[in-house]
Amino acid sequence: MSRVHNFSAGPAALPRAVRERLSEALKPTPDGQPSVAEISHRGPRFAAIADELVERLRHLMQVGDEHEVLLLQGGANLQFAWLPMNLAAGRVAAYTLTGHWGEKALAEARRVGQAVSVGSSEACSFTRLPALEALPPDCAYLHYTGNETIHGVQHPLPPACEVPLAADLSSEFLSRPYPYADLAFAYAGAQKNLGIAGLTVVLIRRDLLETIPDGLPKYLDYRSWVASDSMFNTPATLSWYVALEVLRWIDSVGGLGALEQRNARRARRLYQTIDASDFWSNPVDDDCRSVMNVPFFAADERLTMAAVEAAEAAGLLGLKGHRALGGLRASLYNAIDDDAVESLIDFLKDFERRRA
Ligand SMILES: Cc1ncc(COP(=O)(O)O)c(C=O)c1O
Repeated sequence: MSRVHNFSAGPAALPRAVRERLSEALKPTPDGQPSVAEISHRGPRFAAIADELVERLRHLMQVGDEHEVLLLQGGANLQFAWLPMNLAAGRVAAYTLTGHWGEKALAEARRVGQAVSVGSSEACSFTRLPALEALPPDCAYLHYTGNETIHGVQHPLPPACEVPLAADLSSEFLSRPYPYADLAFAYAGAQKNLGIAGLTVVLIRRDLLETIPDGLPKYLDYRSWVASDSMFNTPATLSWYVALEVLRWIDSVGGLGALEQRNARRARRLYQTIDASDFWSNPVDDDCRSVMNVPFFAADERLTMAAVEAAEAAGLLGLKGHRALGGLRASLYNAIDDDAVESLIDFLKDFERRRA
């Protein structure tokens, strides 16, 4: 088989340069010191990794002293509950829903306090952005999912509103310049655009720390993580190291502006192929189609699995749609080569010719 391309939604492909650095880093150093996965998080070698990681994150997000950047574990799923426990205690949290992950975030927020939907596009199967309804009185924040990984719906910009904004940016983190500094809170798992699973980046506006109620379990109080430089317990050291290498790689390819242009160009090419086809389709409105995750469907649903299998045989992996939606899905994260997208486009045209 010639080259394999990995379109997995996460854990996802790493940039080749990062994969190579990682395999080197897993060996003992030339002077016999342990590999990066085997050193104390309290020692000077790891401290240098941690410092550079936070500094680069701050630089790419363009955030200053008004924000804390935390490096946590538990994935976005833990943030679904952790965020409302900390920032909506005794108040109401508002959620706008554009797909599966927003629904999950709202359901979790309801388990720990009061939370309401203030706009949902469920009635049209999450194919557009909903209009925002009136926010409840005493609203703690408005939560939105920047990019719905399964339904392929992306907010071009954060919604405009009067209350603090909280964003699940898991599947679009660092894929383009973004107004991070305007957000009160944001979170993203690393396993899509920032390396490997085990690390969750949280951005929190400092003044909000004062609103956290006392008496929470210490692990679940963001202030514990601020006070300990994100080392309240043993961090996922290897995930931090890989994230640092990814950030260095982002710099080496021209930064977020360059990635934005490249990501937009090839997503456009894929959507154009799908739209021009009588066989493949994507139901999402033009103005909110995801640049990162492109779900698409065969005209004859019975051919979905045949297409996934034929794609795998052609070296195009990870194209099976999420079980919640079916169909196929191509995740076009930062690490995906242009070649991969061109190969996918050729494959889709060929499959249509042979099977339609
Ligand atoms: C937008 C979004 N939110 C949340 C999650 C859940 O992430 P985790 O598995 O890190 O908890 C995902 C995972 O794919 C996601 O894409």
